[in-house]
Amino acid sequence: NVPIDVDLSTLAVGQQVTVLWRSNPIFITRRSPQALEKLKTPELRTRLRDPDSKTLQQPPYAVNWHRSLSPEYGVLVGVCTHLGCVPAYASGATDPTRRGYACPCHGSKFDLAGRVFTGVPAPYNLPVPPHRMLSPNRLRIG
Ligand code: FES
Repeated sequence: NVPIDVDLSTLAVGQQVTVLWRSNPIFITRRSPQALEKLKTPELRTRLRDPDSKTLQQPPYAVNWHRSLSPEYGVLVGVCTHLGCVPAYASGATDPTRRGYACPCHGSKFDLAGRVFTGVPAPYNLPVPPHRMLSPNRLRIG
């Protein structure tokens, strides 16, 4: 249960890093203002299985539209809720409609808040691990 600290100062907007916590990959994404706007659109919400993440997969402080502490940073357990493969990150740099995560094993797709799309095998949104900001550029996971 040892927490890990992550320096966010070199993480550019749109970029993601993966760190290991409790042997699980943790995705930390710095989301652009445009990407955050997209998370709120009704068009996107209708394509999600559980847009408000009512099937609790996050700590209480991440029960919000961005599923994190700070909207700018997404923090997700990078393990597909279907059978446990590691989804791949798509920054959306070349195609904004593909921003989010895609699982290479059976095609499950998640948005940048880790919410699963409908019509794919993964039953739940990606979990949000416990996290807090130690300073504006330092994130603690665990
Ligand atoms: Fe991800 Fe099956 S393990 S879709």
